[in-house]
Amino acid sequence: KKSVIIDCDPGVDDAIALFMAFASEKLDIKAITTVAGNVRLEKTSKNALKLTEYVGYDVKVAKGASKPIIRELVTAEFVHGQSGLGNMVLPEPDGAFYTKNAYDTIYEEATNCENGLEIIALGPLTNIAITLLKYPEIKEKLKHITIMGGSTELGNHTPAAEFNIYVDPEAAKIVFESGIPITMVGLNVTNKAYITAKDLEEILSYNNRPAELVGKSLMSLVDFFKNLDFKGVPLHDPAAMATAIDEGLLETKLLHVDIETKGNITRGKTVVDIYGVTGKKPNANVAVDIDREKFINLFKRLLKSYGI
Ligand code: BDR
Ligand code: CA
Repeated sequence: KKSVIIDCDPGVDDAIALFMAFASEKLDIKAITTVAGNVRLEKTSKNALKLTEYVGYDVKVAKGASKPIIRELVTAEFVHGQSGLGNMVLPEPDGAFYTKNAYDTIYEEATNCENGLEIIALGPLTNIAITLLKYPEIKEKLKHITIMGGSTELGNHTPAAEFNIYVDPEAAKIVFESGIPITMVGLNVTNKAYITAKDLEEILSYNNRPAELVGKSLMSLVDFFKNLDFKGVPLHDPAAMATAIDEGLLETKLLHVDIETKGNITRGKTVVDIYGVTGKKPNANVAVDIDREKFINLFKRLLKSYGI
C-alpha cells in the first residue's frame, strides 16, 4: 500500500476523489489536510470531516491555510455551491479536527513513514509550500507529489490558468521548484477524464449511498457541460486520484514547468517547456494522456464496492 496524505479543498470533485480513495485497497491514508480554495477553509475542513464520517472512515483531518501565501483568497462558489459540496447534503459532523495543523501533520507523517510518504494534492498548493518553508528537510522525506493542477494547454479559471494554480501561484512555484518528484495531472488530461449520463445511470443503479450521492451530483452537471461542448462531466480531482491509485492510466513526459507569478492576464499559468527550449532541467512528470476507459472502470469499481 502507498502511504499518502490527501491535501484538498472539498469541493464537489474533491469529495468524489475522497470517496474513491476511501474505497481503494491501494492507499493507506495517513491524514487528510484541508486548504482554502473552492470555498473558505472552515467549509472545506468541515466538508472533509463530514465525508469521512459519512462512510465511517477513521482518519485524521487537519486544517491548513485559510488563504494563499501572499494573495487574497479567490473561491469558486459558482461551481461548487455555497457549502462547497454542490447538491450533496451530508449530516453535520460529530468528530473533531486533529489537534495539529496541516503543516505539522504532513511533517509528522513524513517523519514517521517508513516506506516514504506521498501527497495527493487536489487544491491550491498553499499547505505544501508552507510545509516546505517551515521544514525544508522534508524534501528528502517526501517520496512523490501528485498534483491536480495546471495544464499544458489552456486554463479554466482564466484563459491562461487552471483554478488551483491560479489561486496560489507563489505556492505552486515553491512546490514545483522543490526537487521532490512531481506528477502534474492538468486540465489537458482531466478534461479527457469525463463521465457520461450513461455511465452515471449505471453508477446510480449500484444502490449504495456514496454511489447515489456521486451519481446524482454529477448528473445535475451533465447539461451544463453539454452546453460547453464537453462529451461529459470532467472529473478533475478524481482523475488525479485515479492516477495515484494506478500509475498505468497515464502517459507522462518529463518536462520543465514554470509558474507565472508576475503576469496580469497570465497569473498562475503553468508554462510547460514541451520542446525543451529553455534548457532547464525537467522538474515534473507532466501527464499528456489518460486512458479514459480504464479510468472510468476504476471509478465505477470503487464506487460499486461500498456496502452502505
Ligand atoms: C480544480 O479546481 C477546483 O475547482 C476543483 O476542485 C479541481 O481541484 C480544477 O481546476
Ligand atoms: Ca479541488
